[in-house]
Amino acid sequence: MKKRGEKFAALTAYDVTSSQLCKEAQIPLVLVGDSASMVVFGFDTTLPINMEEMILLTRAVKRSNDLSFIVSDMPFMSYQASGAVALQNAGKLIKNGADAVKVEGGVEVCRSVSKMVASGIPVVGHLGLQPQSINVYGQYKVHGKTTKEAKQIINSAKKLEKAGVLMIVLECIPFELADHITNLINIPTVGIGSGSMCDGEIQVFHDIVGLNTKKLPKHSTRYLDGYGLLLKSIKKYQKEVKNRKFPAKKNSSFAKQKLVDFLKTNESS
Ligand code: KIV
Repeated sequence: MKKRGEKFAALTAYDVTSSQLCKEAQIPLVLVGDSASMVVFGFDTTLPINMEEMILLTRAVKRSNDLSFIVSDMPFMSYQASGAVALQNAGKLIKNGADAVKVEGGVEVCRSVSKMVASGIPVVGHLGLQPQSINVYGQYKVHGKTTKEAKQIINSAKKLEKAGVLMIVLECIPFELADHITNLINIPTVGIGSGSMCDGEIQVFHDIVGLNTKKLPKHSTRYLDGYGLLLKSIKKYQKEVKNRKFPAKKNSSFAKQKLVDFLKTNESS
């Protein structure tokens, strides 16, 4: 698609419904993101989610989608310690349905990336804002605004490509820097908060369908008031049960006369 200049949309998915929707909408790339830590499990950051949880989500996403290329995030501390640790954990995600794994970081993860790729595991890189490093940076912000920072990101992109990643997510970097990197490397870039010049764009499922009730980041958009619509339906259900409107006759199954008679004769026992 990069070669053809064909832009593609990617989306996160975490369960059967979101994954099935991505399949039906023909989303070519689905990410089982560690953003599940926030949007599925209710934590404030991506740090608490663990391998077991990522495996379960990956299995559900894979089971309901045989069309999209499925990338699973390697959770915080599942790859940073060593290449051997990275390899072992990446293998678990692949065995459970991921087509590739994604790791955050630049030069510092290149050795582990090469090890995984050499062992047959496709790897996606992630540069710019790296949410797993929130405790180092203290805030979610645009990265690569200074020449020094931009040079580091460019260097990391080149090194990651050399190490064998199949694409790179560029999160929250300036438009011009994302454009520069996209032209510089031969593998696809997938932007989020990095302007429109990347080869693909990725967003978080809950943000675009309006299931996230928190303030959306500037780079996202709400195509539907999903939360509002669901709330309305659940309120209606609760009211109809209370008013004995639901379940109705059509939702019930009725006994044959013989059973009705038996129940009548045994009313007191
Ligand atoms: O976990 C996630 O949702 C991500 C995307 C923001 C790229 O890594």
